[in-house]
Amino acid sequence: MIDTLAPTLSDFISRLPKAELHLHIEGSLEPEQMFDFARRNRVVLPFRTVEEVRAAYAFTRLQDFLDIYYQGAQVLRTEEDFRDLALAYFRRLAADGGVHAEIFFDPQTHTGRGIPFAVVADGLLAGMAAARDQFGITSRLILCFLRHLDEDAAFATLAAAEPYLDRITGVGLDSSEVGNPPAKFARVFRAARDRGLRLVAHAGEEGPPEYVWQALDLLGVDRLDHGNRALEDAALTGRLGAEGMTLTVCPLSNLKLCVVPSLEAHPLRRMLDLGVRATVNADDPAYFGGYLLDNYLRAATALDLSRAQLIQLARNSITGSFLDADAQATHLVRLDAMPR
Ligand code: HPA
Ligand code: ZN
Repeated sequence: MIDTLAPTLSDFISRLPKAELHLHIEGSLEPEQMFDFARRNRVVLPFRTVEEVRAAYAFTRLQDFLDIYYQGAQVLRTEEDFRDLALAYFRRLAADGGVHAEIFFDPQTHTGRGIPFAVVADGLLAGMAAARDQFGITSRLILCFLRHLDEDAAFATLAAAEPYLDRITGVGLDSSEVGNPPAKFARVFRAARDRGLRLVAHAGEEGPPEYVWQALDLLGVDRLDHGNRALEDAALTGRLGAEGMTLTVCPLSNLKLCVVPSLEAHPLRRMLDLGVRATVNADDPAYFGGYLLDNYLRAATALDLSRAQLIQLARNSITGSFLDADAQATHLVRLDAMPR
C-alpha cells in the first residue's frame, strides 16, 4: 500500500528544483511552430506536413542534424517570432518543474540571412521577461559562435552584441565540432572574458579529448557542454572532477546523434561515479524527442539512477549555473528538503 503512495519517478523528478544549462533556443522550434511561423512570414518550406518534418529527423551524426536545424531556423524572422519561441520553451520548462534556464542562441544563423542582431536579442529578452512574470522562471542568455565560421565572423558577432552585453551572460561555441577545434576561437574568447562574459563551449561531443583539453586550457571555460569523450582520457577525467567542472550532458541528443549506441551505454552514471559534476539537459528538444523531464526520466530508467543520484544531478544544475550565490541557495534549500 505504501508503494502506491510513493510519488512516481516522473513526479519525483518533476518536483526537483532544477536548471537547464544546455538548450539551444532554435532547437526548441517544434514542427507545428515551424509551419505557423512560415505561414505568418510567407516562407516556403520543403515539407508539406508535420509528419514529413518529423520523418526527416533521422540522424546518424551531428552534421545531419545541423543541416536541418539551420534550415528550420529560417522561418524565424521577427522579434515576435523569437519572443514566442522562447516563451513556448519556458512554458514546457515550467511544466517539467524547471526553475531556471541558461539558453543558447546562434546570432550568426540569423544575421547571415539579413535579420538584425537586435531583432533576435530583443525578441528573446522579451520572452525571458514574460517567462519570469508568467512562470517565475529565471533565465540567462548565452551567445554561441558558430565554429564552422571563421574567427573574424565571431569577432564581428561580439561587436554586434556590444549594446546587449549587460543582458548577455556569456558566450559559447557550437555547430560542427570535428575540424573546428576550440583553439580557433582562443582570441575571441579572451576578448569576451575581458568584457566580463562567462565562457562555455561544446567539446567532446564528437570531437576527441584533445578538444576538451583545449576548451579548458586555451579558452578557459567556466563550464563544458557535452564532454562525453573526456572519459576516454583518465587524466582529463581526473582534472574535471578535481576542478569541479560542470558538464552539461544531453542524453536524448546523444542517442539521436549516435554519440552513444543506446541510453543504457550512456556515460552519465559513470560521470557521477567518477565525481564529475554532470547535469542533464535537452539540447535541441524539438529535434531529439524530449524536453528536460524526458531526458531525466529516460536516463534514470536506462541507467537505473537512484533518487540520491537524481537529486545530485539537480544540485549540479543549480551550483553549475551562473545564478548568484543567494539565488542558488534558495533552490538548494528546497532540494535539500526533498524526501529521498
Ligand atoms: N552540437 C553542436 N552544435 C549544436 C548542437 C549540438 O548538439 N545543437 C545546436 N547546435
Ligand atoms: Zn548543444
